[in-house]
Amino acid sequence: MRLGVIGYGNRISGMIRNCFRKADPDLRVVGIVDPDEDGARSRLDDCDRTDARFYRGIGQLVRSAKPDALAIATRCNLHARYAVQAVRYGLPLFLEKPVSVSLRQALALERAYEKSDCPVVVSFPLRVTTNFAKVHELVRNGAVGRPEHVMAHNYVPYGRTYWEDGYRDYDVTQGLFLQKATHDFDYLMLLMGRPIVRVAAMGTVGHIFGGDKAAGLTCSICDETETCRESPQNRSKTASDHLCPFSVDCGSTETGLNEDSSSCVFEFDNGAHGVYTQVFYSLRDAGQRGAVVSGYDGTVSFDWYRPEIRLVKHFEPSTEIIDTGSQADDHFGGDDELARNFVGVVTGHEASRSTLQAGLQSVYTCLAAKESFQKRRFVNVRQVGQSGRGNGKS
Ligand SMILES: NC(=O)c1ccc[n+]([C@@H]2O[C@H](COP(=O)([O-])OP(=O)(O)OC[C@H]3O[C@@H](n4cnc5c(N)ncnc54)[C@H](O)[C@@H]3O)[C@@H](O)[C@H]2O)c1
Repeated sequence: MRLGVIGYGNRISGMIRNCFRKADPDLRVVGIVDPDEDGARSRLDDCDRTDARFYRGIGQLVRSAKPDALAIATRCNLHARYAVQAVRYGLPLFLEKPVSVSLRQALALERAYEKSDCPVVVSFPLRVTTNFAKVHELVRNGAVGRPEHVMAHNYVPYGRTYWEDGYRDYDVTQGLFLQKATHDFDYLMLLMGRPIVRVAAMGTVGHIFGGDKAAGLTCSICDETETCRESPQNRSKTASDHLCPFSVDCGSTETGLNEDSSSCVFEFDNGAHGVYTQVFYSLRDAGQRGAVVSGYDGTVSFDWYRPEIRLVKHFEPSTEIIDTGSQADDHFGGDDELARNFVGVVTGHEASRSTLQAGLQSVYTCLAAKESFQKRRFVNVRQVGQSGRGNGKS
């Protein structure tokens, strides 16, 4: 595969090195659009150093480098803009999540792809992991009866990245529903087989992270590292020198600040409902991500961090524990599976297992959750294909 990449940062360079090349050892990066040429070059694999050329835009890249496929992996706020430009070339597209960070962008994206058969693989690794596939199969085959309720949680043990890296820039990410819950809403809708139509959300902001420490402050120039629990000395197993998570750079409640934790209750279109909670200050073994889905006949629970699925049939005397041998790396194996699917899509052997429609439906749900949290009221979720503008009021 000859691949053109827009935004050659950490995520896509890791995906190409660890997953795409496993799926296609002949893959070559032939063209890149990235204003930080030196940074992008430093992330290139040896085999691409001679052939990869830098271009000012997608049009120039496609005309000159003649790629077979494109990948868009800039920071979040540019995904939709580039994807709208990419559609006219009709090439298979690997698109990072969230597929957009605003309703305006999402509507433009939906419109742009409405009449296109350009295949898109959205970067949702959780939906293609083996343990999720097993849970999905159980639920689809009636293990719990009709699914009536789901309780999902995500205690993120690496959540410092949302205050100590570029992800703390609220203008770019627009908060942690779009940044993180986009994965979880996606797999929850897939698991329940229904779209979410209404949400009510809450968040806690500024209780832990954010603050009034100086702009640009890092541990190496801070005189409080003896006592600060986030310093490399005191968080020794999980930190090196880093930006201060208590800095004004993290934003404020007025300008936008990532949530320490956020939650929502949501309703599916058949009246089933669920809850989801994400917590970003957890560390170490506190990491948990998964769900409990139940119906009249049974309850299935799973956690990506633990290698088992638990199935309780309500009217049978035993409980089944299914060993999934799940792995912690590369999104629990999902990145490899996504890469394999993308290569299959490019060679024409497979359909996308993570479509743009799924990416958009998840974004509409995240936008409704964000709006509900900000306005303190229920918000109806826009549905892909719905006419008119706006995430309907409730
Ligand atoms: N799917 C997943 O599980 C997953 C995991 C991690 C990150 N991500 C997503 O991947 C995206 C990239 O994250 P990252 O950590 O690699 O960030 P990054 O900052 O390392 O990479 C972004 C790249 O985009 C480049 N860029 C900036 N402006 C640009 C422009 N105008 N045009 C083209 N390129 C431009 C930057 O120079 C940089 O190389 C984020 O949106 C993030 O949400 C997804």
